[in-house]
Amino acid sequence: MKETLNKIKAEALSALDDASCNIEEIRIKYLGKKGELTSVLRMMGQLSAEERPVMGQLANEVRAQIEEKIASMQELQKQKKLEEALVNEKIDVTIPGKKRTTGKLHPLNKVQREMEDIFIGMGFSIAEGPEVEYDYYNFQALNIPENHPARDTQDTFYITDNILLRSQTSPVQARVMEKQQPPIRIISPGRVYRSDEVDGSHSPLFHQLEGLVVDKGITMGDLRGMLETFAKTMFGEKTQIRFRPHHFPFTEPSAEVDVSCFVCGGKGCRLCKGEGWIEILGAGMVHPNVLRTCGIDPEVYSGFAFGMGIERITMCQYGIDDMRLLYENNVKFLEQF
Ligand code: PHE
Repeated sequence: MKETLNKIKAEALSALDDASCNIEEIRIKYLGKKGELTSVLRMMGQLSAEERPVMGQLANEVRAQIEEKIASMQELQKQKKLEEALVNEKIDVTIPGKKRTTGKLHPLNKVQREMEDIFIGMGFSIAEGPEVEYDYYNFQALNIPENHPARDTQDTFYITDNILLRSQTSPVQARVMEKQQPPIRIISPGRVYRSDEVDGSHSPLFHQLEGLVVDKGITMGDLRGMLETFAKTMFGEKTQIRFRPHHFPFTEPSAEVDVSCFVCGGKGCRLCKGEGWIEILGAGMVHPNVLRTCGIDPEVYSGFAFGMGIERITMCQYGIDDMRLLYENNVKFLEQF
C-alpha cells in the first residue's frame, strides 16, 4: 500500500509540474470521490491495527502534498493568465486614432442663427407663421388687394384660389398684429416661395427674415439706428448703410437698404459689382392701412418693418457667387464653412 501511495504522489505531482496542465482534472483523478487516493483509503480497513495509523498518516501526507501543489499551481496559472491578458489587451496610445467626422450646420442655418442672435440681443423675440398661407395674410392684409400689380413680382404657387405658398415672410406681421397689441418687437425667419426659374441668383424656394416693431412714437430714425446696429454687428464695425427710396404696398415711406461693401469698403470690387454698395433688404414704416386692418390704431401707434433675404446675406458673408451651391448639398462645398 505504501508503494501505491508513493506512486500516486509521484504521478500526481509530476502531472502538476506541467505548467499548462488541467488542474481540476488532476484533482478529480487523484483526490476526487472516485479518485485513486480515495480508493486506496477505502482499503484501509483491511490493514492490521499497527499498519493502519502508519498508512493513515502517509495517506494524509500524500493528500496534503498534492493539495499544496494544486494550490501553488492554481496561483501560478492565475498569474500567467493575468500576464497574458496584460500583453494581449495592451492599448498602444501611440497608434494614430480614427478620425470621426462630425456634421455641422448648413451655412444658411448658421447665418440665420447669427442674425437671430443679433436681433434677440436687441430685445426682439421670434414669431412663426405657416409656409402654406392664406392669400389674405400674404397679400390682402398687407395692402395688396386682388389685381394689385405688386402681385406680379411675387407670383407664387397656389394650392387653391385663396391658399398659397407664402411669397414673403411679411404675412407673419399681420398674424402677429392681429393677435397682439403694441408694444410689438418680433423677427420671423423662414422659407418663402416664388414661381421663379432656378439660376445663380433665383430659386423657387428661399429664406427671409422679417422684422416688425410697433409702439408709440416709432420713427424712421429707429429703423435706421436698428438696421445700422445690425449691419455693423453682422458685417463689421466699419459698415455703413444707405436708404434708397422704394415702394412696398405695406410700408410708407419705403426704402431699399444697402450696406457698404465689406470686401472693398466702398471702392468697388467684384462682390459689389463695382458699386461699393450691396442691397440687403427692403424696409419702411408700416402702412396705416395695414395697422388698421390688423386692429391697431394708426393714430396712436406707428411701426417699422423690414425683410431681408438670408441667402443674400449668406452669399455676401462667405463670398458665394452662385445661389445654387446652397441647395446642391455637395459635401465638399458645405465642409468649407
Ligand atoms: N416682403 C418684402 C419682400 O419680400 C420685403 C419687406 C418686408 C419690405 C418688410 C418692407 C417691409 O420683398
